[in-house]
Amino acid sequence: MALGANRRVLSGMRPTGQLHLGHYHGVLKNWASLQHEYECYFFVADWHALTTDYENPAIIGSSVWEMIIDWLAVGINPSEATLFIQSRVPEHAELHLLLSMITPLGWLERVPTYKDQQSRLREKDLATYGFLGYPLLQSADVLIYKAGLVPVGEDQVSHIEIAREIARRFNHIYGRETGFEEKAEAAARKMGRRNAKLYADLRRRYQEEGDGEALERGRALLEAQQNISLGDRERLHGYLEGSGKMILPEPQALLTPQAKMPGLDGEKMSKSYGNVITLRESPESVEQKIRTMPTDPARVRRTDPGDPDKCPVWKLHEVYSGDDVRAWVQSGCRSAAFGCLECKQPVIDAVLAEQAPIRERSEEFVRDPDAVRSIIDEGCEAARAVARETLEEVRAAMGLDYR
Ligand code: TRP
Ligand code: SF4
Repeated sequence: MALGANRRVLSGMRPTGQLHLGHYHGVLKNWASLQHEYECYFFVADWHALTTDYENPAIIGSSVWEMIIDWLAVGINPSEATLFIQSRVPEHAELHLLLSMITPLGWLERVPTYKDQQSRLREKDLATYGFLGYPLLQSADVLIYKAGLVPVGEDQVSHIEIAREIARRFNHIYGRETGFEEKAEAAARKMGRRNAKLYADLRRRYQEEGDGEALERGRALLEAQQNISLGDRERLHGYLEGSGKMILPEPQALLTPQAKMPGLDGEKMSKSYGNVITLRESPESVEQKIRTMPTDPARVRRTDPGDPDKCPVWKLHEVYSGDDVRAWVQSGCRSAAFGCLECKQPVIDAVLAEQAPIRERSEEFVRDPDAVRSIIDEGCEAARAVARETLEEVRAAMGLDYR
């Protein structure tokens, strides 16, 4: 798809309490840079938390606010991105319900995370309707904003794939309004004679000759139109591509470059491994945690040479240190020129330097929870306005506008 065609980005995160450096390097830095380039919607997926943690309702409330403070502290900016909470936009639930009518069970059963997660989280009973429907709820989250791009990690790509399939199926079943072709032709004329002719030409080249570039140009042409209604735009997109009216556009996964942030033990940083440094961890605790990190077990004494490749601290140098420090570590470790505590110091300094502005920004929000609430109130309202519009169209397409 032409990147220029749909510049709305949406992503969600489950409330898991205080975020850690893994979230920062893996997700949040990416969000913070996307917000400058795209129209971004970021939300707390609190209903999603209940799909696996329905027995633990108490954790949601506190986790949500801590997480939002973390977002704000890293520079996710409410004047650039819309920040909201899923359950405060109940339209997601209605769309989920409506889409469930046309979702084949097999599609959900075949999503790889369904069986994987059930066996990984064997201590929980995940043979529930809600857990099976999780990817459909996620699809509704995306489709209700007609988002074009969804930044996610590798593990979520199959969920975006199902969102695409659902959108396609929806458009196929409900995009066939009566008089579609006539309406599309009339809509084309509203773009003016020259554009209408260009559109017709691009459409013919795509449909008759399979010319992909013509398709891209056609899409760009439609996105550039200021004065056509949403409904007409959808007709023109559908007509261009040879389908019916395109009510729900297909989103694309925007694969987050997988920065594998190492934890204190050298494994991937993750709360469930107990190897994390939280985003707003106190400096004393950061220092303590890194000073007690395991190192190459061969370095029993200060005079024993070591091998950075066998040391979790080296993995942190790979994230935090420049070439000169890395060269210093490589030679000093192998020649036992210094001890491990000395080697850890640049990492400690770098983590503290990274956290200082984050901690500072967070303080203002910790002191003023009302300010955080009003940011979210505004975000929820803005998100709802968009969600309501899509839902109106969906209801109409499904015959629910008869009242
Ligand atoms: N399922 C995602 C996760 O566990 C969170 C999520 C929910 C999401 N809805 C979304 C991500 C919509 C992107 C778009 O990480
Ligand atoms: Fe690890 Fe550094 Fe110690 Fe070598 S000197 S074992 S790289 S902490």
